[in-house]
Amino acid sequence: MENSWISIKNVRFVRNRRPILDDISWDIRPGEHWVVLGANGSGKTTLLQILAGYLWPTSGDVTVLGERFGEVDLRALRRKIGWVGSFLQAQVPPSQRPLEFIVSGKYASLGIFDKPEAEDFEEAARLAARLGCGNILDLPYAVLSQGEKQRLLIARALIHKPRLLILDEPCGGLDLVSREQLLLTLESQGRIPGGPAMILVTHYLEEIMPVFSHVFLLKSGGCAAKGKKDQILRPDLLTQAFGIPIEAGGENGRYWTRVLPVKN
Ligand SMILES: Nc1ncnc2c1ncn2[C@@H]1O[C@H](COP(=O)(O)OP(=O)(O)OP(=O)(O)O)[C@@H](O)[C@H]1O
Ligand SMILES: [Mg+2]
Repeated sequence: MENSWISIKNVRFVRNRRPILDDISWDIRPGEHWVVLGANGSGKTTLLQILAGYLWPTSGDVTVLGERFGEVDLRALRRKIGWVGSFLQAQVPPSQRPLEFIVSGKYASLGIFDKPEAEDFEEAARLAARLGCGNILDLPYAVLSQGEKQRLLIARALIHKPRLLILDEPCGGLDLVSREQLLLTLESQGRIPGGPAMILVTHYLEEIMPVFSHVFLLKSGGCAAKGKKDQILRPDLLTQAFGIPIEAGGENGRYWTRVLPVKN
């Protein structure tokens, strides 16, 4: 679709003869921020890896930021996408300083021959301040708290000015206060004019901030429902997608859920 930032049509992803994603179609338009919900193993991370050009679908069409897979240099595409996921944390040298870590986000995507410049470090410091981690810049990565690491990961993803920011369970391991602070940071990040579209994967409706406008609900690799947030975050659709009775509601732009006892 012309005016979509992301358009996925009839995507299938098969591994070991098992369809991990089946007949997924999805359009993301400018100004929309999406949440992806679904049980463990339902295919959320796989779907986002396809979007980000890390996995190739078995069949179907993927157009991201106007570039159709198959016609585009995937390295160039990845540069336009910021990824915040847990896998990166394990690869960080323990003694690395926060600003170096943030700057590495720019050069990881460009190649080893590019040397960071002073202005990269200035931009990293600005981003760190904006994301609420400007006070830990003297500490080595290894001693930082989970919440501080997550903020650095987001800063690292933002330094190359992506047009799409993928957040795969960014609140994992955060206490209630740190989680709320990180969510408020996402809320303001999502409202920056001209900022990247965000896609958030979470297991908790409590983490869906008002800035997120749409929800994609996955069930066993298929689309259970997708659309405007209020039309999808309904007890009946959630119950269907997760296979257990779920109560859900909203208040002041935020959501809650309660799993009901299963009757025998
Ligand atoms: N390369 C692969 N080969 C075989 N199976 C795979 C491969 N990659 C993923 N899978 C399987 O595909 C399914 C979907 O995995 P995926 O990581 O996308 O789920 P998810 O929805 O992100 O789950 P979680 O909530 O636990 O992160 C899982 O059952 C997983 O075991
Ligand atoms: Mg996952």
